[in-house]
Amino acid sequence: MKILYTFIPCVLFVLCSCTPERNKDRSSVDARIDSLISIMTLDEKVGQLTLYTSDLDVTGAHIRKGYLDDLKAGKVGAIFNAIGADYTRKLQQISVDETRLGIPLLFGYDVVHGYKTIFPIPLGETASWDLTAMELSARISAEEASSVGLHWTFAPMVDVSRDPRWGRIMEGAGEDTYLGTQAAIARVKGFQGDDLAASNTVLACVKHFAAYGAAQAGRDYNTVDISERSLREDYLPPFKAAIDAGVGSIMTSFNEYDGVPATGNRFLLTDILQKEWGFTGFVVTDYTSIMEMVQHGIAADTLSATRLSFDAGVDMDMQSGFFEDKLGILVKEKVVSEESINNAVRKVLKKKYALGLFEDPYRYSNAAREKETLMKPEFLEAARDIARKSIVLLKNNKQTLPLPKSVKRIAVIGPLANSTNDLLGAWSGQGEGKNCISLLAGIQAAGAGTVVYAKGCNINDDSLQYIAESVKVARTADVVVLALGEAAWMSGEAASRANIELPGVQQKLADEIFKTGKPVVVVLMNGRPLAIPDLDKKADAILETWFLGTQAGHAIADVLFGDYNPSGKLPVSFPISVGQVPVYYNQKSTGRPFDATNKYTSKYLDVGNEPLYPFGYGLSYTQFDYGEITLSKHEMATGDTLTVRCVISNVGQMDGKEVVQLYVRDLVGSVTRPVKELIGFQKIMIKAGESKELTFEITAGDLSFYRLDMTYGAEPGNFQVFVGGNSRDTKASAFSLK
Ligand code: BGC
Repeated sequence: MKILYTFIPCVLFVLCSCTPERNKDRSSVDARIDSLISIMTLDEKVGQLTLYTSDLDVTGAHIRKGYLDDLKAGKVGAIFNAIGADYTRKLQQISVDETRLGIPLLFGYDVVHGYKTIFPIPLGETASWDLTAMELSARISAEEASSVGLHWTFAPMVDVSRDPRWGRIMEGAGEDTYLGTQAAIARVKGFQGDDLAASNTVLACVKHFAAYGAAQAGRDYNTVDISERSLREDYLPPFKAAIDAGVGSIMTSFNEYDGVPATGNRFLLTDILQKEWGFTGFVVTDYTSIMEMVQHGIAADTLSATRLSFDAGVDMDMQSGFFEDKLGILVKEKVVSEESINNAVRKVLKKKYALGLFEDPYRYSNAAREKETLMKPEFLEAARDIARKSIVLLKNNKQTLPLPKSVKRIAVIGPLANSTNDLLGAWSGQGEGKNCISLLAGIQAAGAGTVVYAKGCNINDDSLQYIAESVKVARTADVVVLALGEAAWMSGEAASRANIELPGVQQKLADEIFKTGKPVVVVLMNGRPLAIPDLDKKADAILETWFLGTQAGHAIADVLFGDYNPSGKLPVSFPISVGQVPVYYNQKSTGRPFDATNKYTSKYLDVGNEPLYPFGYGLSYTQFDYGEITLSKHEMATGDTLTVRCVISNVGQMDGKEVVQLYVRDLVGSVTRPVKELIGFQKIMIKAGESKELTFEITAGDLSFYRLDMTYGAEPGNFQVFVGGNSRDTKASAFSLK
């Protein structure tokens, strides 16, 4: 900072001494930022647009020599993967004390479903349909992340995806745009809180813009080719909702849209994001996606890739170093104006300011706070609660579950039964297996009967050597809990699978265990929908537990023994076979809708059209009965509100929560409409033997879509309305919009 004081003491003094709280006057903040920009060299400006990584290895985080030199030269504005209060403080000191202007660094990290206390993978957590839970896990993640010096998380990931082959489906909210939109808002609120300047909130970064989840054939990084209508209707709403909820940054995606990679796509980054939506935060690339535009075949060299991305609307270059190398040249050649560089710098500095970094660059790097914050008991308690809320009961024949605590002998079998690392899932921050409760440990801790264990097989190889032993163990038990699924590395980035059945010899293991005739409860652990028709036929009960994080074993045991009545519902359809993919509930009718008696309708010869488990599906230990729907009127005008009522009764023996879902169908439109669309849901507790009347309100806004001329709005006509506990089994009524 010293040089700055020499040159223009008042500018930084004023900038630093105004806290965001004390100064809510936007124009004076802007003026201060502008004065700072006015004294920055071009290199320093480009530095603010450059994000480098600090490397993580067994000895801890460290920064490459080259990056360190750049940092000292004021050529780096942000660093990611630098973690730990002491380490971030050290790097911050370099930036503040050793660079000419002393501008504080911004530290980012992928805090996707927890920093140290790990929550369920986002897909699993979305199965809770509990927005308060989603906000809470993001809040706690922010508390932990901010205590180790982080200011910025690369989350939430809001990519809608209908393809279980795509490994990154685990990071998002599943196949539905409406549910994904609600989840996006909750997570942004959780990370950013009410005040970015508070030392326990972090800047969120909604990603990946846009349509990354539509990668062809579910292959990561693959081409996306969808209509603008689908882009706007299916993929963009969660981004728009996150922006309306105040998200401060957005990340581009690796894929192309309409022939132009997202990182160089002006239509996405400028026309939609800035002009239509008025986004004022900054745009960061996904990793080296500027560099990848050369491979895409849209830029011949690094200079044109840089120009393309900057002109399109990218503000910050993650990792490729292209901005650092080439932006200056482009300005000198007058291909890029310095004013446009200033605009990008302004956006970045504003976020640093909003985070309070000019007031105190070290406010997040506090070793004492780090120590007392990570994995606090109340965080672990919340992680257990959110984990059990995320479990989906897929099958429960003859009320096999819950298991009575009086059960004498339980065999816990399977390659995931004693795993800890896998239960953290991909993108698990600084979560550690040693802090994670395995299923076996969770069952043992529940203290019911004698627990015996056998591995059964490995997750993903051909070896049959452990199966015989596990069958022996199963024979000695009263019930078998069989933990099957995927390893954590089998989903996440660059983890697409063409085959989504159980990997390795797990089906063989299951078949041998079923042959023992013992009651078998399958506990699935996986980052994507799996095709499990055989398990569905043969298991007595199936629990979908995704990867539930640090408290997984306790949470699953809570459900197994009935201390918690499962209430999760699938946020994505589970196909019978990968050949049905994409299979999703809000499909179109087609001109030849399925008719079993007519060959020439839209179907397969060898498998049905329906998924094994539909979107929104999930059982409870109790049963809910849905009464007929009543509507406040059957004709509504555009400005009206229509009230939908439905009485739901808990006709079982246990208190339970139900996710009541509201769908509509627009029967005739200027463009075809889906056979069902989720437009609302409520999660309610109903005591055994009680009934509750639920009301939903529908306005024309809920019936709106991109019409033939691409204007957005509702069209008069007839609608069906559905209420149910999943997207398949619903009660229906009808109304018209005048
Ligand atoms: C991923 C992003 C992530 C970034 C930084 C990329 O490979 O696609 O989601 O935020 O790496 O780790």
